[in-house]
Amino acid sequence: MIYIPQRIKEIIGDQEYSQDEVGMSESTVLMFPEYVLKIQKRTPETENERNMVAWLGDRLPLPQIPIYYVEDETAYTLMSRVPGKMLCEEAFMRSPESLIRAVAEGLRLLWSVDVSDCPYRVSRLDERLKAARENVESGMVDLENVEPETFGPNGFSNPEELLTWLEQNRPQEDIVLTHGDFCLPNIFADRDHISGFIDLGKMGPADRWQDLAIVLRSLDHNAAGVFNDGNPYFRFEPRMLLTQLGMEMDEEKNRYYRLLDELF
Ligand SMILES: Nc1ncnc2c1ncn2[C@@H]1O[C@H](COP(=O)(O)OP(=O)(O)O)[C@@H](O)[C@H]1O
Ligand SMILES: [Mg+2]
Repeated sequence: MIYIPQRIKEIIGDQEYSQDEVGMSESTVLMFPEYVLKIQKRTPETENERNMVAWLGDRLPLPQIPIYYVEDETAYTLMSRVPGKMLCEEAFMRSPESLIRAVAEGLRLLWSVDVSDCPYRVSRLDERLKAARENVESGMVDLENVEPETFGPNGFSNPEELLTWLEQNRPQEDIVLTHGDFCLPNIFADRDHISGFIDLGKMGPADRWQDLAIVLRSLDHNAAGVFNDGNPYFRFEPRMLLTQLGMEMDEEKNRYYRLLDELF
C-alpha cells in the first residue's frame, strides 16, 4: 500500500488510481481520473516546480498544483492531469511533421514569457553546476543511463573530469524561460497543439540551448526507435526543428548542454 497523507485524501477521496511507469526518476506517480500525485524525495527541484507553477500562473499550459505537502522529507505534489497525449506516443511518432511543429510551438511558448523578474534560480547555470557537483560527489551520477560516447576512450574518464570541463567551459548564457527537461514524454499536445508541460523541477531562466539540446537528443532517440524495440519511425535531422525556429545549429552549446544533462 502506498501511503497518501490525509489532506490529499480529502481531495481525491477513494478514487482509484493506476501507477505510471514512464518516468525515469526515482519517484512514484499515481494517476487518478483528474489528478496526478507525484511522490518523491523533497529537493530544491520539487520546491522549484511548485514555485514556478505559482509564479507563471496562467501564462503557460501547466498543471495546477492544489497541494504541495512535505512530510518526513517526502514531497507530495498533487497536480491536475494535463489533457492530450505525450509527444513520444505512437500517433505523434508516426506523424513527424506535426510532432516537430508541436515541439517548435512548445519552445516558442516558453520563449514568449518574460523572465527578467523571475526570482527563482535553480535553473541558472551556476546553480546547475553546483547541483551537478553534489551529484558527482555523492556518487549519484547514473552511469547506466548516459550516452555511449560520453565516457570511455574518446570521451571523459569519469564524471569528475566531465564536471571540471563543464565548470571551465561555461558558455555565455542567452537567457529565456526553459523547461529544463524538455524531452518528448514531458510535453503534451492535443490535436497538434501544445496542451501542457509536466515534470517542471528544473524549469526557469536558462540558456535557450538547455531545452534545444535535450529535445534534439530526445527527437533523435525516439525517431531512431530507441524506445520502440529498436524499430525506427523516421530519420531525424536537427535542421527539421531549427529551420522552424529560424535558428542555426550551435554545435558548442548543443554539446555543452547535452553533457551537462549527463550529470543528472
Ligand atoms: N500532470 C500530469 N498530467 C498527465 N500525465 C502526467 C502528469 N504528471 C505525470 N504524468 C505522467 O506520468 C509520467 C511521469 O511523470 P513525470 O512527472 O514526468 O515523472 P519523472 O520525473 O519520473 O519523469 C509522465 O510521463 C506522464 O505520463
Ligand atoms: Mg518525466
